Amino acid sequence: MTDILQAPAMRGFIRMCMDGWDRGWHERNGGNLTYRMTDEDVVQCRTFFKAPGPWVMMDVQAENLAGEYFITTGSGKYFRNVEPDPVHSLGIVEINENGNAWRIVWGLEDGGKPTSEFPSHFMNHSVRKTATNGANRVIYHCHATNIIALTYILPLTDRDFSRALWQSATECPVVFPEGVGVCPWMVPGGADIAKATSEKMKTYQAAIWAQHGLFASGPDFDTTFGLAHTIEKSAEIYWKVLATGQPIRQTITDEVLRAIAKDFNVVLNEAFLN
Ligand code: 13P
Ligand code: ZN
Repeated sequence: MTDILQAPAMRGFIRMCMDGWDRGWHERNGGNLTYRMTDEDVVQCRTFFKAPGPWVMMDVQAENLAGEYFITTGSGKYFRNVEPDPVHSLGIVEINENGNAWRIVWGLEDGGKPTSEFPSHFMNHSVRKTATNGANRVIYHCHATNIIALTYILPLTDRDFSRALWQSATECPVVFPEGVGVCPWMVPGGADIAKATSEKMKTYQAAIWAQHGLFASGPDFDTTFGLAHTIEKSAEIYWKVLATGQPIRQTITDEVLRAIAKDFNVVLNEAFLN
């Protein structure tokens, strides 16, 4: 390999950024993506690392992420520029032995920093790593239009959002049978929103930030992007139905939800069923 950008992890990361850009979920610098690298990824990329930058302390800590390496989008960087200008748009950071500081080992050239949402990504990585026995590797935050719009009209509860999404597309109960979490509006970028989101991510693969966007998690880029896409598409269908102004004549009933779960061998969150 002559270029770090040929590493499968980098290629997958960049492709997902461009997919999100193409969907219209990343206006300006909106949204961010992080990937917890495997040992093999680190071996492939290490020869291209630069002299590490200084350690930067975080207000959050996760012992189970000590010594890990993450690919991350940069704060204030545009998803639109990730493919044409990866060395400024992206970076690789190493986490210290206490799990409470990062330093840049590749990219984020000319003074770039990891996404301002790194604390939320970091805490979500920590809880999803535990919840999935180490399988989870991707955390993705996007400004998905229809899901944001729904946070203006639906009650901000896990139950209301989970039911509306399950009822708006048949695949939803199969893709996220546990439902989705909802956080109230909070100041972005800090430790408080990181902790609130990671509480939701103990139960759910995805969490919605009111009037802001979506967090999705998964073991790889395909699954994580697919989850965000499924949630956003379901929200779009719900909107289209509401926009007709017609009364809803029929929907996916709880009986049907249970039948789908049985046939697809998934356990639906019973707390959200009547
Ligand atoms: P960053 O540019 O710091 O990643 O912030 C974008 C964003 O979506 C904040 O929530
Ligand atoms: Zn955002």
